Amino acid sequence: MSLSFSPPSAIDGDANFGFEPGAEPTGLACAWPSLVVDRRSFYAEPSPCPSVLLVTAHETERRVLGSLLRRERCILIDARSGTMALELLLSCRPDLVILDRDLGDMDGLECCRRIKTLRQSEFLPVLLVAAGISEEDEVLAIDAGADEYLSKPLHPQVFRARISALIRQKNAVDRLEEAEHILFALALTVERRDPGTAGHCQRLALYSVAFGMRLGLSKEQLLALHRGGYLHDIGKIVVPDAILYKPGKLTAEDWVVMRTHSARGEEICRPMRSLAPVLPIIRSHHERWNGSGYPDGLAGERIPLLARILQLADAFDALMSERPYKPAYTRKLTVQTLISEAGMGWRDAELTRLFIELPFDELKLAEPFVLGAEAGNDFDASVRNLQYHLAP
Ligand SMILES: [Fe+2]
Repeated sequence: MSLSFSPPSAIDGDANFGFEPGAEPTGLACAWPSLVVDRRSFYAEPSPCPSVLLVTAHETERRVLGSLLRRERCILIDARSGTMALELLLSCRPDLVILDRDLGDMDGLECCRRIKTLRQSEFLPVLLVAAGISEEDEVLAIDAGADEYLSKPLHPQVFRARISALIRQKNAVDRLEEAEHILFALALTVERRDPGTAGHCQRLALYSVAFGMRLGLSKEQLLALHRGGYLHDIGKIVVPDAILYKPGKLTAEDWVVMRTHSARGEEICRPMRSLAPVLPIIRSHHERWNGSGYPDGLAGERIPLLARILQLADAFDALMSERPYKPAYTRKLTVQTLISEAGMGWRDAELTRLFIELPFDELKLAEPFVLGAEAGNDFDASVRNLQYHLAP
């Protein structure tokens, strides 16, 4: 793909492209050289001007829409086909996408559908524009995930109002995502305080999602498992170090404190509505099949399925890893121990039988890709790597 960012003249022949002529050239003008070299670093910085990915195959549309957006002091990213838009989307991280219905290489509806399928852009607002809208078109646009649908010719005031509303929507989603990232960072900090458990959260996410895929769970359930891998022990933030890292055995009093971590973890994550599917995992990951676990003493299938899955991944990884109180077990001994513990009523025996049939050699191969992921909690990267390594 040759075009990443069009210089202003390539879009509308106007060297002031992206700004009202004569307006103060904030942000973009100062950063233009580095923008060309490294657009990611530029867009990583907060900008007072929203960035808009404008996708159209038609020069006239580009001029008209570009002119309207210029008046709104938007930073424009130009894509001349649906394929180009999908490539620019992830690297440029725009605040809004404006899609012409006719993109040349694909229908705007198809492009919209693909944008909304990607986890990184599922909440990115998309405005579709087209000539002559029928009721059927509106239904198709809504089905494709478009946030707004405007008919050409555009009314400038309506267009401006819609743009402003969509940018506000994007800002609200960004604030929520920031809060989520803080929680994930907190969870990883809890893990990293104990050098003996390095990589534990990532491996739990990996094993749980792999097992969920084998069980045919939905994408939403897999995502909950992935997040649960990171967040399940976030409640340990309230457990004093003297207990958390005690070299010897915990006393009965210590256990009372330690056992609070699952319920406290749920309390910490409960305000985030987007984490609702993860809460049962966090709260119930120490329940036992025979009802002897905590915090609620749930038994059998009253323990949420996703929590039972994470328990198995948690136990597998703990057994396979060296701990102050035990050496790392071999795979064979780990499997024997899981079967033995299921026999004692600790975990779901049928689920245990299925879990130990996972192709752990292939999972081991997928580990470095997941553990090395820049984002740390990149669900899509995990699924892609698992699909690659677990393919028949
Ligand atoms: Fe735990």
